[in-house]
Amino acid sequence: MRDMVKVGLMGLGTVGGGVVELLAKNRVEIAQRAGEGIEIAMALVRDPAKARGLDGAIPRLTTDPEEILADKSIGIVVETMGGEEPALTYIKKALRRGKHVVTANKEVVSAHGQELFEAAMIHRCHLMFEGSVGGGIPIIMPLKRCLAANDIDEVSAVINGTTNYILTEMTAKGKDFAEVLREAQARGYAEADPSADVDGLDAARKLAILASIAFNTRVTPSHVSTEGIRAVSSADPRYAAELGCVIKLVATARQDDGAVRVAVAPVLLPKDHPLAAVNGPDNAVLVRGRPVGRVVFSGPGAGRGATASAVVGDIMEIVRQRTRPDKSQCTCFTTKEVLAGSGRPSPFYVRLRLPDGHGALDRATAAFAARGVSLASASRKSADGSGYEFVLVTRSAAEDAVRAAAAEGASNGAGWAVLNVLRMEDGDGAA
Ligand code: NAP
Ligand code: HSE
Repeated sequence: MRDMVKVGLMGLGTVGGGVVELLAKNRVEIAQRAGEGIEIAMALVRDPAKARGLDGAIPRLTTDPEEILADKSIGIVVETMGGEEPALTYIKKALRRGKHVVTANKEVVSAHGQELFEAAMIHRCHLMFEGSVGGGIPIIMPLKRCLAANDIDEVSAVINGTTNYILTEMTAKGKDFAEVLREAQARGYAEADPSADVDGLDAARKLAILASIAFNTRVTPSHVSTEGIRAVSSADPRYAAELGCVIKLVATARQDDGAVRVAVAPVLLPKDHPLAAVNGPDNAVLVRGRPVGRVVFSGPGAGRGATASAVVGDIMEIVRQRTRPDKSQCTCFTTKEVLAGSGRPSPFYVRLRLPDGHGALDRATAAFAARGVSLASASRKSADGSGYEFVLVTRSAAEDAVRAAAAEGASNGAGWAVLNVLRMEDGDGAA
């Protein structure tokens, strides 16, 4: 066996700690499969005194990034700190100093991928980020390599474990959003500040990465129309079930007349849709391409071991290649128009509170008809003395027209309240 390949680890928390554990536990097999042994030379942390439970596997700790960046014996930097800065600066410095980089940081990759790939190309370094999307699910490499011969029509995904756990619990146990969010935080799925998860930004970042690869054009989180799950009440999953559906936070990127459409929003999926069966903190990514057809990847979307599996896989791939790339590995070689929103007519689920009294439902139906939206069904759900809750299901219609019709009664004094408007997927994902 040759000398050990030395890695500088930046961040020794959930993911970084998992990387240290995995490299120690499978040391011999990893060396055989990669062709060389791999050792963590040093780890950057904020607080060296923190208890980490890594026993003998713990590498030398430092609080000074220069100790890693200036060490010529370190050929690979693994960034598992998280956040935009200083992670971005450290990754750029590592690439400029000729060090290969592995990162699980979707915030940095989704917003700064272009600049990082340019630096990687100039300095002939690998930049790998399998752990940044879908945790332990292999999806970056399959899209870049195994599916690269296809014309990709669509990538749809459940790619935020926190929101999927929350929606799964709300559906199964009829609990409120706020109650399940507290549980998700206690179980360590949601961040202490869970807004990037529940407001859809984490999913938008991951979608931007997947869409950039699938459609070979630069997509950033700012392109993505992003709606989270705060407006989903405990009644919505129950009413969705009565319609044969489940509610999932779905991230979708698809080709539309040469442009790329990107959206993250809660959607009603038929129960036989492949993304409908993904529960708890799991993730799934559906790719539809020609000629391959529909391919679905699923598994643990987050967590120590799962994400470490992706990160260590990237380190091993760099070690295995051992040559410096002579051209960019960036797959964004075209420039396409990128548009926010699904842009596709579909049925919609509209939950309204209508005032007590004759004709309220007729007026609501007329408001939809006036905008060219016909209704497939209208069902009364509950009354509280001052009004009724109705669920309307539209036939396939443009989202703008549905939202405008729903908002009309609320703004013109008719006394409606729009409680929720959600797109419904009308197929099983096979088309
Ligand atoms: P974490 O548990 O909070 O760990 C962060 C680590 O980075 C800690 O060891 C911390 O040091 C260190 N750190 C942070 N800022 C630093 C700074 N300015 N200087 C020096 N050290 C610093 O985070 P994580 O959950 O492992 O996530 C790491 C990355 O992986 C993020 O980009 C995240 O989005 C991504 N990711 C996470 C998961 C997951 O399941 N957790 C899944 C997929 C991707 P101390 O320990 O001293 O505080
Ligand atoms: N907060 C993220 C999630 C962690 O809930 O999916 C994994 O990226």
